[in-house]
This record gives sequence, C-alpha cells and structure tokens, in this order.
Amino acid sequence: MPAIVVLGAQWGDEGKGKATDLLATTDQIDFVVRTSGGHNAGHTIVINGEKYATHLLPSGILTPGATSVIANGVVVSPEALFRELDGLSERGVELAELKVSANAHVIASYHATIDKVSERFLGKNLIGTTGRGIGPAYADKVNRVGVRIADLFDESILRQKIEAALDVRNHLLTKVYNRRAIEVEAIVEELLAYADRLEPMVCDTSLLLNNALDAGRTVLFEGAQATMLDVDHGTYPFVTSSNPVAGGVCVGAGVGPTRIDRVIGVIKAYTTRVGSGPFPTELFDADGLKLQELGGEIGVSTGRTRRCGWYDAVVARYASRVNGLTEFFLTKLDILDAWDRIPVCVAYEVDGQRVDEMPMTQTEFHHAKPIYDYFEGWRTDISGCRTFEDLPKNAQIYVKALEELSGAKIWGVGVGPGREQTIVVHP
Ligand code: GDP
Ligand code: IMO
Ligand code: MG
Repeated sequence: MPAIVVLGAQWGDEGKGKATDLLATTDQIDFVVRTSGGHNAGHTIVINGEKYATHLLPSGILTPGATSVIANGVVVSPEALFRELDGLSERGVELAELKVSANAHVIASYHATIDKVSERFLGKNLIGTTGRGIGPAYADKVNRVGVRIADLFDESILRQKIEAALDVRNHLLTKVYNRRAIEVEAIVEELLAYADRLEPMVCDTSLLLNNALDAGRTVLFEGAQATMLDVDHGTYPFVTSSNPVAGGVCVGAGVGPTRIDRVIGVIKAYTTRVGSGPFPTELFDADGLKLQELGGEIGVSTGRTRRCGWYDAVVARYASRVNGLTEFFLTKLDILDAWDRIPVCVAYEVDGQRVDEMPMTQTEFHHAKPIYDYFEGWRTDISGCRTFEDLPKNAQIYVKALEELSGAKIWGVGVGPGREQTIVVHP
C-alpha cells in the first residue's frame, strides 16, 4: 500500500497523531507528510507512557526510520518550526530527517498580529482561531502577496515581496485597526535569521514524493484539522483556511489522486469541537462535562477546553462521502466505559422533517436537532483489550453499529492513548 491518507473526520483532535504514529511504526512507512494547515494543529503521541505533542512537524518526526516532509500546502512559521524541533531535541528525542517544500508559504509575525486583531474586530461573531496567523497567511497566498520558503534565500526578492505584502496591510492596520504599521526591514531581518538553518532541509517535495512512490516506497499523508473545519466542506465560516479533506492532500503535496490507495478517517467514539460554530450533538449537561473530564478534552495547542457531544453518524457519513474514505479509525472508545446507555445521532430533525444527510445550507445545519438511537453501555475497563473479541459484547455491538451507520468499515479501534492500546478490526 504505497500511499495512505490519514485525516480528521469530525472537527479535529480525533487522534490523528496516534493513528499516524501507529501506522508509521507498524507499516514500515518511508515518508510522513503534512500537506495543509500549520502550527494550529496539536497532535499527541504517547510512546511507552511518554507524551509528545507535534504542531507543525509531522508526527513521523518521532520515527527516525521515516523521512518527515512539510509539503507545499502547509503554511510554515520558521520560528515555530525551530522552536518545536529544539523542544523535542532538548527532551533527548532522536529525530527523523526533515524536508521542507520550497513552495510552502511563510507565516511571519505580522500574520499572527493580523489574526488576533481581526478576531477582535469580529466581536461576538469571532471564529475562535488559534491566533497563529494561519488565515492571514493563506489569504496572502490566494491574494498573490505571500512569501514562500524559497524567497528566504534571495534577500532582494524577499524585501520586494514583504513590501508588497505589507503595503495594503499597513493601511488596514493603521487606519482601520488603529495599530502601528509593521516595518518591512524588521520582517526581512526576522525571516533572514532562519535562512541558513532552513536551507539544507529545503527541496522540491513533490518530486521527492513522486519519485518515492515510483520506487515503491510507502508514503503516509498525515492530515491536520478536519473535514468539518475544511474551508469548502466544513461549517463555513467557522472553519480553518485550508482544505484538510482528502482532495487537499493532492494539491498540498503535488501528488495526483490516482496515486492514493487508502484514505483513513480518524473519528472519536463521541464528538468534540474547539472554537465557535454549529455542533448539533453538543451537550450542555453533566454528560458533556463527564466526556470533557474523562476524555481529557483540553486543546493541545491552545489549552482551550473542547466542547463535547455524542457521536454524530450524519457527520461520519458526510466525511466518508467528501473524502472517499476507504476506512475509519475509531478512537477513544474506552472513554465510553463509564456510561450505562450511549446515544448515537443517526439523523437530524430540521424544521420538523427527518434529514439523513448533511443539510445543504448553513441555516438548516444551525437548526438541526439530533435524532438519537440508544445503545447499552458495557461498564467495563476496555483499555487492556487487544482484539475485537476481547471487547465486551455491548462494545462490539456499538462498534458494529457505528460501522453500519457511518459509510465505511472500521479498520481499527483505540482503547487508550498508547501506541499499543489499539485493536485492529479489519487488517
Ligand atoms: P489529533 O489532533 O487528531 O492528533 O488529536 P489530539 O492529539 O489533539 O487529541 C487526541 C487526544 O486523545 C490525545 O490526548 C491522545 O493522546 C488521545 N487519544 C488518542 N486515541 C485515544 C484512545 O483511543 N483512547 C484514549 N483514551 N485517548 C486517546
Ligand atoms: P488538529 O490537527 C481542532 C479550529 C480553531 C478554530 C478554527 C480556525 O489538532 O486536529 P485557525 O487558527 O485554523 O484559523 O482556526 O479551526 N482548529 C482546530 N480545532 N483541532 C485542530 O487541529 C484545529 N486547527 C484549527 O479552534 O475554531
Ligand atoms: Mg489536535
């Protein structure tokens, strides 16, 4: 299986880091590649009880045998990149080789400044971004005033590009947002400071990955963010500014769709969301708090608590469709050990009508009320189960029911954060 995509099927934080790490260590993966987003991601990997978090780096950075790649579709803050690398090195971690695309766009300090002031201006309509400058960096890319990694190696080009990027932006900052203008020279200096350290890592990552696939090597594309945060297919405008869906992988890596063999959607056995926006199965009661507490639902990047709710099979079917999922990896089943009865949203009621598929308009989605089916809990600690047959009967029924409802087979089930706390259902 040379090319595998792992992506988020809900609103993020499904356990993509764990799924990636598991595949990277068990399936002899040669390359682990990030293709969209930036250091807004927070992926947790637990190895031998030791917890690591990656943000901009692919989780493969912890698997020395595999090469980590930051491809063209990612927005790269050089400051965040080296902070993360140094942080892992200081913990004595042996790091994998890292390659960075010459075409990836750069996040400079002004992108984070603009992210924060524009959120302030949105007032109660704010998106709840991570404040890392992701949206403004992608806006510059689409507006054709972005700075790319390759520009860091040509000072005069870099200066011209930053002048162009800051021209309109400074008018906005000073005249609309009442902030000080950003000085071109300060940004040139900020970015040039990283050029020497970055240069040996930079290459044509599309060529690298296509050559690898031609040679029969295995490539794992590690998704960040998630389907429901996709700028086209998510709950716009409460989304991120990139395309975390499977199609975005091809654009973000320069690899054609015909080369992808498996598309794995990572999905929690319940649902969480950080930031603003609609969330039909969200709970505002004791069960919501219990999911948050038992699930440890606190953001890895921003420390914000995650909103919690029951599993939403409409979202799962939608993710299956827009990504062409070949399978799901179901995580955090163990968190549901503590319930007698587990609701699963099987459809919505929208303005008095039953709806089985994602509603077409945002207004309808805002009005969607979950229709629940109820499953018997198992009330047993499943964290030590290693085969499907080890699971209590009611947990088996729950997993099989989700598989029926969600539009793709469940390849694996997570029963704890550790690499080994995994059940492979369909190898
Ligand atoms: P990502 O952004 O999709 O990589 O997910 P995060 O790392 O932000 O959040 C997932 C959290 O769930 C992390 O704390 C993981 O260690 C944890 N986790 C992943 N899979 C499981 C699982 O099967 N059971 C439990 N209990 N925790 C899990
Ligand atoms: P991982 O990869 C959960 C959310 C933010 C906000 C919206 C836009 O760990 O699953 P942005 O800073 O991207 O412009 O914020 O998207 N968001 C995430 N939520 N997990 C993530 O990444 C996220 N990355 C962005 O909370 O609602
Ligand atoms: Mg996360």
